Amino acid sequence: MSWTRDSWRDKPARHIPNDYPNPEAVAAVEAELATYPPLVFAGEVRRLRDSLGAVSRGEAFLLQGGDCAESFKEFHPNNIRDTFRVLLQMAVALTFGAAMPVVKVGRIAGQFAKPRSAPTETKDGVTLPSYRGDNINGMEFDEKARTPDPQRLLRAYGQAAATLNLIRAFATGGYADLRNVHKWNLEFVSGNAQEGRYRVLADKISEAITFMEACGVEGEDVRAIREVDFYTSHEALLLGYESAMTRVDSTTGRWYDTSAHLVWIGDRTRQPDGAHVEFCRGIENPIGIKCGPSLDPGELLTLLDLLNPKNEPGRIVLIARFGADHAGEGLPPLVRKVVAEGRDVVWSSDPMHGNTIKASSGYKTRPFDAILSEVKTFIDVCRAEGAFPGGVHFEMTGQNVTECLGGSQEISEDDLSWRYHTHCDPRLNATQSLELAYILADRFKSFRSDAMNQHL
Ligand code: PEP
Ligand code: CO
Repeated sequence: MSWTRDSWRDKPARHIPNDYPNPEAVAAVEAELATYPPLVFAGEVRRLRDSLGAVSRGEAFLLQGGDCAESFKEFHPNNIRDTFRVLLQMAVALTFGAAMPVVKVGRIAGQFAKPRSAPTETKDGVTLPSYRGDNINGMEFDEKARTPDPQRLLRAYGQAAATLNLIRAFATGGYADLRNVHKWNLEFVSGNAQEGRYRVLADKISEAITFMEACGVEGEDVRAIREVDFYTSHEALLLGYESAMTRVDSTTGRWYDTSAHLVWIGDRTRQPDGAHVEFCRGIENPIGIKCGPSLDPGELLTLLDLLNPKNEPGRIVLIARFGADHAGEGLPPLVRKVVAEGRDVVWSSDPMHGNTIKASSGYKTRPFDAILSEVKTFIDVCRAEGAFPGGVHFEMTGQNVTECLGGSQEISEDDLSWRYHTHCDPRLNATQSLELAYILADRFKSFRSDAMNQHL
């Protein structure tokens, strides 16, 4: 059972490309990456684990979101800023509603590689390898683009580093200061229902800060007002890249994957005897596990035994992704088992991946109502089974895209072609993301009053 950075190489690995024309070139790139600076630091990872521990005790809430797949083409400071600020806006809405700290984790600065349902794609009689993410191959439908190229890993590392650099500047350099809460409004949201709602919330927050300052507490002196803790995450799919980024922390002597604060194992790669579980069991980062309809409670326990043998809080985030129609019957047995076995986990809801449909125009899309319905079912199931519904996991962007149907803008099938930019799955746009955050905040507010009434 001894673990090394490379012990995963002896296990069956799904969804890792094995058709690089020159495997030595891949090994050379991995060796080079292993000499590059870490993107995140062990101390930050430990802080996230502590915060997730608070979520598992029901004292905080987890908000995780960002692109399905980052791309070289959409790499632009404005896109990073917009995703970051929608997450901040969602977080203030949730903090206000739930009256709890919100742990903010982006699917950003490294979320490139994608597992695909089919290894090839056929168009007009031509069959080529599927697009697998910009760090592996290109999206254009031609042989050259679809051939995996290891140099893309270096470019992805550079993009992740630059993205994280900007995020750190936003998080600590003044942009995320709560006293700027009014400035986070997005230009294109102006005039729609979410803008008015946001303004009311921002007014309340500003008033609270003014009151606090009148009492003699300077906002400038309070780190929680001046800065935010913002963490990064992605699916640990390409284990060659992940292991190259995995380093020993000099203070504890333990291994950390320094490519992101949190990494997760996808629904297609969570085999207990597979390479992805083997790699993740040896690193100290918090680990997400996607839990879909094919996961049975016994197998989930096996995964928890492997990945968190000491049952440490803040180590595991179970991300349920059943689909609105299946969560009601599929999720309860998992939650029941985990509760009965006394396992300390964060339960989170990914209401995106089980709700993907094909519009008649051919676009992959997701209905806002199905997304909302799955989160509501998730909350109800957790509460009924005695678990805390601790978080949400969204594919979303700060851009004004038209990829998911519905919401207050009533995006229709005909609207999808207008701004359909995703490199993989359809994302909630900024307005839809905020709308969801408000609805969830209201739900949490109602629990709070239920809980208070129970105490009366
Ligand atoms: C994803 O999060 O983009 C993804 C592929 O999810 P899942 O593994 O749950 O299908
Ligand atoms: Co996706």
